[in-house]
Amino acid sequence: MKFYKKLFASKYDSFMTGIEKSLHSIRTELIGDLKGEILDVGSGTGVNFEYYSMKAQVIAVEPSAYMLLKAKAKMEGKDNITAYNLGVTDEALTEIIPKHSLDYVVCTLVLCTIPDPQLALKKFKQWLKPTGKLIILEHIHAESNPNRMLQYN
Ligand SMILES: C[S@@+](CC[C@H](N)C(=O)[O-])C[C@H]1O[C@@H](n2cnc3c(N)ncnc32)[C@H](O)[C@@H]1O
Repeated sequence: MKFYKKLFASKYDSFMTGIEKSLHSIRTELIGDLKGEILDVGSGTGVNFEYYSMKAQVIAVEPSAYMLLKAKAKMEGKDNITAYNLGVTDEALTEIIPKHSLDYVVCTLVLCTIPDPQLALKKFKQWLKPTGKLIILEHIHAESNPNRMLQYN
């Protein structure tokens, strides 16, 4: 499993290069203008980081230490992003994110991977301000392998 996680992290950006070309305008539209307190869920290798302006104060959470290592390389010079090696349903996050404190929760290509998406959505509701918004860029949850296996990395 450790080997697979390491391999996934090392190949992720190159594997996604073609797909990212078509996602670029969507990410720009969804993320480019966000301001305030933001949770970036499952940041992976930090693909979203280049899209956030300095008006966005971003908490990035990523449970894979290998993915996070890649993401940290993209955080250079971005003091507005703080990253944690945590899953979004980990209890430790409740200490870090006060209730009703977030302007946005950003989930890009991640809900299909989280083992308990219902619990994650419940947490988002608790963390978001009443005026806050959940931003989702998603594809479908695969029902069978090998696609299902790739989603559960
Ligand atoms: C397909 S990647 C997407 C990365 C990034 N958000 C993007 O748009 O490219 C999904 C990420 O979700 C992470 N993930 C898996 N379970 C998670 C959880 N419980 N909480 C937060 N992130 C999780 C994985 O480790 C992986 O890095």
